[in-house]
Amino acid sequence: MFNKQTLRDFDLQGKKVLLRVDFNVPLNSNLQITNDKRIRETLPTLNYLIEHGAKTIIVSHLGRPDGKVKPEFSLKPVAERLRELLKKPIILTDDVAGSDTFKYVRTMKDGDIIMMENVRFDPGEEANDPEFAKKLASLADIYCNDAFGTMHRAHASTTRVAEYLPSCAGLLVEKELQVLGGALENPERPFVVIVGGAKVKDKIGLISRLIEVADVVMIGGAMAYTFLRAQGHNVGKSVVEKDKIALARLLLEKAKTQNVKFVLPVDHVVTGEFSFSAEYIVTTTKKFPRTGIGMDIGPKTIKLFEHYISKAKTVFWNGPLGVSEFQRFATGTNEVAKALANSKAFTIVGGGDSAKAIEQLNLQSKINHVSTGGGAALKLIEGVSLPGLQAISEKL
Ligand code: 3PG
Repeated sequence: MFNKQTLRDFDLQGKKVLLRVDFNVPLNSNLQITNDKRIRETLPTLNYLIEHGAKTIIVSHLGRPDGKVKPEFSLKPVAERLRELLKKPIILTDDVAGSDTFKYVRTMKDGDIIMMENVRFDPGEEANDPEFAKKLASLADIYCNDAFGTMHRAHASTTRVAEYLPSCAGLLVEKELQVLGGALENPERPFVVIVGGAKVKDKIGLISRLIEVADVVMIGGAMAYTFLRAQGHNVGKSVVEKDKIALARLLLEKAKTQNVKFVLPVDHVVTGEFSFSAEYIVTTTKKFPRTGIGMDIGPKTIKLFEHYISKAKTVFWNGPLGVSEFQRFATGTNEVAKALANSKAFTIVGGGDSAKAIEQLNLQSKINHVSTGGGAALKLIEGVSLPGLQAISEKL
């Protein structure tokens, strides 16, 4: 259950609110934003702050500038986009909690919003430096964390600052925790889970936890080959994490003990080389060529996945089901995205590449919840405590 203080627990009129958001959005080589979801998802919080007369000082990171001022990581394009979305002038200060920021904060009126430059320009941010956190805190009366995507980082603006100010969660964080947490606590059944991605090693905790709550767990992506190997299948030259085969076997056994249906691909799109333009064949697991590389799930597997999705009342999906960055091998990922969009179940997509597929196909409005968090969403589902969340005060 969500038991943290939120913005609704505070009288915000005339108060300065230091708002940590995750505006770490993808930019192209011309420094244009290619996906503004993380900005749009923060609008309810920003509008709430405006309507309640707060003076909002936005803090965000963008990329990994490693504690140095690097113009390519400036928040300028983000500020620009936010001005368009809120139809409001928003000053982007020249520094990170420096004299320029303090100067503008002093002139703020109720309902105003300013943004400081990329907080990771200051080495104190990632070092979780108390002195830097104190400086951030001295700008405001209240600290609000709405940076769900960064909740798994213990940095000055995500955790330490909460030691020096009354703290609360923003509306996006509240929503993410309610949906992702709720799905695991009390899902409507059948609860069907699809996990893809390259490596078992990155998803062990996630799969292990999901086996405890789901009715069906379906696996795609390169990691499926480690599981198939664990079952004794030949998977040619597909990527297999040899040191994780034993672990994959344990997860398969765990699923069996818990009476969870564990579904692995039954057919594959197979090439002779790892390339975006490689010729391919479609073959079953039994007939997998000795020198072949699995690049995507095959049509029978897509049908199988669609079948379980159509029977589900709750679906959670994370991770691509093939090499989806190569158009030719994105079919499995795209078809599963469409199956979720057509499903009557409550559908949840964990961030990252699966969220990207949903957006590229313009299916966002047909999915109940597309998380803004990649790593943070996975950690939350795994049951690992999020430092950013821990730092926020509990409800009184
Ligand atoms: C993310 O995109 O996952 C968050 O913004 C965190 O970014 P980081 O991985 O650079 O800490």
